Amino acid sequence: MSDAVKLNYANSLTEFVGDQGITIEELKALQQKISKAHESIHRQKKEGKLGFMELPYKIEAAKKIKAAAKKAAPKFENFVVIGIGGSALGNIALQQALRHPYWNLLEKKGRKGFLKLFVPDNVDPDFISGLTDVIDPKKTLFNVISKSGSTAECLANYFILKKILQKKVGKKYNEHILVTTDAAKGYLREAVVKENLVSFEVPSNVGGRFSVMTPVGLLSAAFTGIDIEKLLIGAQQMDNRCFNDDIMQNPAALYAAIQYLFYWKKRPLSVMMPYSNALYGVADWYRQLWAESLGKKTDRNGDAVFVGPTPIKALGATDQHSQVQLYIEGPQDKVITFLSVEKFGKTVKVPAYDKHYLGGRSLNELLKAEEKATRLALTKEGRPNLTISLPEVTPEAMGQLLYMLELATAYAGELFDINAFDQPGVELGKQLTYALMGRAGYEDKKSELETELAKSEKQDYTA
Ligand code: PA5
Repeated sequence: MSDAVKLNYANSLTEFVGDQGITIEELKALQQKISKAHESIHRQKKEGKLGFMELPYKIEAAKKIKAAAKKAAPKFENFVVIGIGGSALGNIALQQALRHPYWNLLEKKGRKGFLKLFVPDNVDPDFISGLTDVIDPKKTLFNVISKSGSTAECLANYFILKKILQKKVGKKYNEHILVTTDAAKGYLREAVVKENLVSFEVPSNVGGRFSVMTPVGLLSAAFTGIDIEKLLIGAQQMDNRCFNDDIMQNPAALYAAIQYLFYWKKRPLSVMMPYSNALYGVADWYRQLWAESLGKKTDRNGDAVFVGPTPIKALGATDQHSQVQLYIEGPQDKVITFLSVEKFGKTVKVPAYDKHYLGGRSLNELLKAEEKATRLALTKEGRPNLTISLPEVTPEAMGQLLYMLELATAYAGELFDINAFDQPGVELGKQLTYALMGRAGYEDKKSELETELAKSEKQDYTA
């Protein structure tokens, strides 16, 4: 397939990076584990447990979202996603990749009538109040997204923005709200019924960080004019390529296997470094996917075992002037994955300039040269690296890339022998926040926590 997203792993091999690398034999030795993982993943899929693997085929649902967005968009100017984590990062990744880099500053004509997008994914008071300074609620559609329907950050921002909306538009405020949540459970589902809100469902078998191809990610993409059908078609293409238990032929399994081998070779840090601003959001999305899915405490015959590679994001060429010194000469504890784009949307030439070597060359050539130079420098210094290349940043390529990384996470979960689909650590933090903020049912926990906090606050350890 000429338009395929590809994984090049040459520079992870001893042949290129010397004894810091892995060998084809080591990879092939994982074949049995991969076959087992493949079998387990497809069994779970059949049992309806891995809903994210069904999403590439939900073309009819995507068509409906696309049509609804086309119809509703002319009534609004802004689309605000109110969500956090898996209910925000995929939206940002798609937006950065597939829309103009300064999308919100374009006139309506430049946006072809589609909406500006804001994703205020934090409860920083200045951040939220700043948003209300720049949007007119009368011209804004708010998409409140929470699978659980109870995440504190999401609900707090929702209540604040809803109040402002109600003040401005009165009883018709509900025409400005779309809710994306569980089909039956949670506060938001109750609100949908009580307040007659338009709603969309997050399938119960799709976890937050795997939900970019559900209405969670698709609504904001459609309202900003992204071709979401093509996104799903790209994911289908990757799904077909990965329907193969041969480790050397299945890019998702191969990526997981390489990361797994390096993890146990004392390389727990996994850097994703796009040489493309458009793909920086993917590195951020992947950071959550990889961290929350694979960072786990697990029980091995009564002993607690802690595993999980630490994902790090960097941007080429920008971080050549920030991180690359560390990557090239610092501790031998990293594996770098470059995201490489073969063809950019535009070609920008540096004008001829006083016989300067840069004159007449393009930024495209310069960025590519910097990418190649960094890859070569790392390789020469025995620093293992991989490259995932996209022919162009298109909806199909994005579908392939995101799906490949989701599936790789599932394979990695099997290899590490952990559950990649839960997040008890995140849940613990959520429960403690509920208690500290006085949510009903958490009263006992609240006083217990306050006593614990008081202990560390009693003595002054500040400098
Ligand atoms: O991947 C996950 O499950 C989490 O990161 C969630 O997406 C995040 O905590 C937000 O949860 P919710 O969508 O329930 O508000």
